[in-house]
Amino acid sequence: MLNVVVLVSGGGTNLQAVIDGIEAGTITNTRITGVISNNQNAYALVRAKKHGISGRCISPKMFDTREKFNEKFMEAVDEMRPDLIVLAGFLVVIPPAMISRYRNRMINIHPSLIPSFCGTGYYGLKVHEAALARGVKVVGATVHFVDEGTDTGPIILQKAVEVKEGDTPAILQRRVMEQAEWKILPEAINLIAGGKITVEDNLVRFI
Ligand code: GAR
Repeated sequence: MLNVVVLVSGGGTNLQAVIDGIEAGTITNTRITGVISNNQNAYALVRAKKHGISGRCISPKMFDTREKFNEKFMEAVDEMRPDLIVLAGFLVVIPPAMISRYRNRMINIHPSLIPSFCGTGYYGLKVHEAALARGVKVVGATVHFVDEGTDTGPIILQKAVEVKEGDTPAILQRRVMEQAEWKILPEAINLIAGGKITVEDNLVRFI
């Protein structure tokens, strides 16, 4: 059984897609052991509660220093004993010590086709604003392992989505979620739970 801890900051629709996948049996051999948010008011915490999953808030704002937050945050994650950590719209920088502890055991969903529209400053709606401003015709989403860089880790899955005439950032964001994110995040977790993925030379290989 793959024990998953999901880290969230906002609405939690990706968390919901994972919960639904587990409940529907499209994600096998997996359970969510906890959800952690940096935002007390994140709707994602309500979603967790509705499905009997323990959730807690731990925010940098609760500590005098970033070091103290990093220490307590890592303790909170470790206590949930994850085999896999899923960043599902988590907007806090992951402590370097946590990245090395969970190397190839932590994944992130990003709302673009990496390496486009990713890196520092590209998150949430900003990604879709930038894509529309550039006039690209195809966008999408990426699930990747987390390494020391921002959105630079080994890519697991990507899915393309068409940009349409008259799209606003919010409309495009919703289409990317529906057509890409909510599909490839559960799929990636299922592949990992099934032992179907390894990382060699910084590249994902399917077994
Ligand atoms: C999602 O679109 C996710 O890809 C994005 O935040 C949103 C969270 O929505 N993540 C990033 O931009 C990370 N760089 P959700 O809370 O409804 O899942």
